[in-house]
Amino acid sequence: MASSILTFTLILLASSITASCAGNLHRHFDITWGDGRGKILNNGELLTLSLDKASGSGFQSKNEYLFGKIDMQLKLVSGNSAGTVTAYYLSSKGSTWDEIDFEFLGNLSGDPYILHTNVFSQGKGNREQQFYLWFDPTADFHTYSILWNPQRIIFSVDGTPIREFKNMESIGVPFPKNQPMRIYSSLWNADDWATRGGLVKTDWSQAPFTASYRSFNGDNACVWSNGASSCSSSSNGNQWLSQESDSTDQRRMKWVQKNYMIYNYCTDVKRFPQGLPPECKIA
Ligand SMILES: *[C@@H]1O[C@H](CO)[C@@H](O)[C@H](O)[C@H]1NC(C)=O
Repeated sequence: MASSILTFTLILLASSITASCAGNLHRHFDITWGDGRGKILNNGELLTLSLDKASGSGFQSKNEYLFGKIDMQLKLVSGNSAGTVTAYYLSSKGSTWDEIDFEFLGNLSGDPYILHTNVFSQGKGNREQQFYLWFDPTADFHTYSILWNPQRIIFSVDGTPIREFKNMESIGVPFPKNQPMRIYSSLWNADDWATRGGLVKTDWSQAPFTASYRSFNGDNACVWSNGASSCSSSSNGNQWLSQESDSTDQRRMKWVQKNYMIYNYCTDVKRFPQGLPPECKIA
């Protein structure tokens, strides 16, 4: 009897510990707009954003971060998602803000999403790269990661790096490294540009559109509060803070860029008649 009570208590304890680790979305995020269209469900294990004709919705992290390796699983709007955009990004504040963007541009059923990426430093972006994905991002959850350290930003999908933006301050390219950023996400209507450049409009008869989030991992991120970082410079276990892409990463990134990249600002000579941005000329 006593032992079964003990066993029961242990099981309860173990499951509540598991729940608090897995279900951390309440602890890390606030729904910030959308009047009830954004929800945190299942004891904080799942977050959903929705969009209908009246409004989209969004959330942001409670913490600000200065560098980190941040993972989130997303499952995008399924079916006819044309005209919708799901943005998932890091951003600081002010007129000279820094920003690291993933944006998912919806499409008609069966037509491919575009994964749009960009990097802003000190208020200046114009560094778009766009990709198709090698899977249907609406069928299941997939992991989208940002590694951001003082030397580089690496965007990854299910552990495969798709883009690297290196710190090239040495040749005069500003790099985001002084402004703490929050994580933001939103689902909104952008049918004036998102799908086939705005040709395909949102079909509101399919609303509400829903995107889902789970399994946030910010354990390897430096929380910035009151002017101090949670990562002390001497601490071990912050290997990611100096992580580089190794030869395997480089090979996989080349594979993605060769087979799935559909736009690269660094090769858009028409757009930059006075010359490509300096970071495009090397590497
Ligand atoms: C939508 O599908 C069309 C046709 O396959 C394609 O050209 C386009 O890149 C796709 N994605 C978006 C977001 O427009």
